[in-house]
Amino acid sequence: MKAPLQWGVFFCLKIALDINMENYKNKILVTGGAGYIGSHTCIALHEAGYEVVIYDNLSNSSFEAVNRVSSLIGQPIDFIEGDIRDADSLRQVFAAHQFFGVIHFAGLKAVGESVAKPLMYYDNNVSGTITLLKIMAEYEVKKLVFSSSATVYGDPEILPINEDSPRSCTNPYGQSKLTIEHVLEDLALSDNSWSLIPLRYFNPVGAHPSGQIGEDPNDIPNNLMPYISQVAVGKLDQLSIFGDDYATVDGTGVRDFIHVTDLAQGHVAALNYLKQQKQSLGFLPINLGSGKGTSVLELVRAFSAVAAQDIPFQFVGRRAGDIASCYASADKAQELLGWKASLSITDMCQDTWRWQSINPNGYNSI
Ligand code: NAD
Ligand code: UD1
Repeated sequence: MKAPLQWGVFFCLKIALDINMENYKNKILVTGGAGYIGSHTCIALHEAGYEVVIYDNLSNSSFEAVNRVSSLIGQPIDFIEGDIRDADSLRQVFAAHQFFGVIHFAGLKAVGESVAKPLMYYDNNVSGTITLLKIMAEYEVKKLVFSSSATVYGDPEILPINEDSPRSCTNPYGQSKLTIEHVLEDLALSDNSWSLIPLRYFNPVGAHPSGQIGEDPNDIPNNLMPYISQVAVGKLDQLSIFGDDYATVDGTGVRDFIHVTDLAQGHVAALNYLKQQKQSLGFLPINLGSGKGTSVLELVRAFSAVAAQDIPFQFVGRRAGDIASCYASADKAQELLGWKASLSITDMCQDTWRWQSINPNGYNSI
């Protein structure tokens, strides 16, 4: 081969290799991607140039969510129906794709149900995560972004809550998240090639601005925002406010509500951060919250204003296990990831209301 031709072949191969490397760096396995936060994150990942493969057993979601994500991004999204506890099924997925990393949303999340069915929660959340980690190790995929929760901080002594605050939990759901965090910490200590980022979400609310995807609880909602929106749309008669005697601005509980699309961007920021790193990160927990506290009554008033109607409510006793106030220090996310929440409580109410009005029965509305 003549020298110029050799160089030509060399450059073509190099370009092909670079493109391949870029593709590899962009492919993400999203467990639980058909769920509430996962579906919004898949859109944000696509917009940021990532290629997504969803892996979900649809135990708490609907395939209609996947269809809608596909139509919002204008192309079919790769979806595999499977369970994170099924090692063989996961092996097939990892054998068929070269992933840069995994965003792990798959898990059960209802506190009351976890008290009634602790084995189901530990099996699904903890055993499922351990199976996933084992298969990741087998395929040398060692970057994970995990859905943790502010629930791991228990009843915080100091507000705002930073990532070094003490951790404790009072129910099996929270305990499953905390146990997974301990597993991730031990894994990072045992092998320094892992990068494991638990994102500790505060209170995710809101919906995609299109009104096409949103939170779709199976039953009567446990959480405040979906309860308010179902009262507003006429599915429920009135809201019960759990406690009016907390030491807060108006006696009702205070939480750090964060728009689900901001939260989705937080996952993109975490992946971008992982991509920039030359070395593994070990165990790196990061709060995703707005840093602001809003009371239950303040949220009810904001929703009333957006929906232009009264939200009937009554005060009832405190809910067992509830805390008075909880809001994040979001400094670490800003410093490391360059991320901060940008959407307001009004945005959260407007987008929830749009989703709820267009889809009064969630994904079963059509
Ligand atoms: P979601 O229930 O809407 O989504 C979870 C998804 O995981 C569902 O699509 C479900 O079908 C799937 N799944 C559950 N078990 C599975 C399994 N064994 N194998 C495969 N798929 C499985 O919940 P979400 O609100 O989107 O929450 C996502 C994650 O974030 C969960 O791990 C949750 O615990 C955590 N989290 C949620 C909140 C919140 O308020 N929504 C707050 C903190 C943390
Ligand atoms: C709850 C869970 C928490 C979980 C989080 C996200 C409990 C004790 N905690 O958090 O583990 O990580 O959801 O899924 O369940 N409220 C009412 N009326 C209602 C519903 C809620 O007044 O019908 C109040 C609550 O008392 C609380 C606030 O609204 O003060 C927010 O409640 P919720 O949306 O359930 O979230 P958390 O309690 O923060």
